[in-house]
Amino acid sequence: MKRLIGRDFLDTADFTKDDLTTMLRRAAEMKSEDRHRKRFTACLKGKSIALLFQKPSTRTRISFDVGVHQLGGHPIYLGWNELQLGRGETVADTGRTFDRFVDGIVARVFKHSDLETIAQAAKAPVINALSDTLHPCQAMADCLTVMEKKGRIEGINFTFVGDGNSNVCRSLTKLVLQLGGNMTIASPRVFMPPEEFVRSAKALSSGGARLELTESPDEAVKGADVVYTDVWVSMGQESESDARRAMLQPYRLSAQLMTAAPSDAMVMHCLPAHRGEEITDDVIDGKSSVVWEQAENRLHVQKGIMSLLF
Ligand code: CP
Ligand code: NVA
Repeated sequence: MKRLIGRDFLDTADFTKDDLTTMLRRAAEMKSEDRHRKRFTACLKGKSIALLFQKPSTRTRISFDVGVHQLGGHPIYLGWNELQLGRGETVADTGRTFDRFVDGIVARVFKHSDLETIAQAAKAPVINALSDTLHPCQAMADCLTVMEKKGRIEGINFTFVGDGNSNVCRSLTKLVLQLGGNMTIASPRVFMPPEEFVRSAKALSSGGARLELTESPDEAVKGADVVYTDVWVSMGQESESDARRAMLQPYRLSAQLMTAAPSDAMVMHCLPAHRGEEITDDVIDGKSSVVWEQAENRLHVQKGIMSLLF
């Protein structure tokens, strides 16, 4: 296993199954330590962590801010447009500037390549707090949640219904396959992940994990242990709202769709939810929903990742 300290966390695909399991184990340890020993409390003592956000955020912003504080470090929230970035300073020069001041960088951006540019310009490790293409911290929190509920990821059947090419679906697909779970994506043809993504995700599979694509949500939820959805209109896609809503109507996660799933299937959503759109109130508030556990686990998983990388 390569040392984790100093590495960037832009994509789970850059890490082995062992690395990812180490991070998840650390997160679980930290979650139980919150209430008991507090062995890791000071691991970021004396360190400053930049939290750069180009898009809005509730959970990610709060969980990183609180997480850095709980580990004894100093979080610095930086809105993209409050920096000189908003007046045209380049991303690379911003990364070079960060390099002189901070010990770690957490960034939420539109273009994934901007994360790579910052990572190249700064020695400090960079954590992907969401880009247009990936949301790896979300996927890690989701897998921690499933491990808590089901005891493992290996052999667990995940079904994602909705925008199959969303950042959340892409990261979840990669991580589930890496950890040996099966993934089925139910999406209209235009929102299926591209062939190249499918090939590279399949190449990450461990232990015979399968990836299947279908246009039928009813077929996809049969046999599912987990049924997951994300918004139909992601941040930055607002101009496509009407077309997306029209095409994704049949993929709403409703009580009706859940009748086709096993009765013990868990319901997951990364949040924020557009209630009544991609998921109905009765499902998100129902007894199978674990969305608030997922949200809380962002804190524990990111503390685990930061304690190993920063
Ligand atoms: N799930 C998630 O990343 O939420 P926020 O956009 O509120 O950070
Ligand atoms: N796909 C959504 C996820 C939000 C956490 C978006 O990018 O807006």
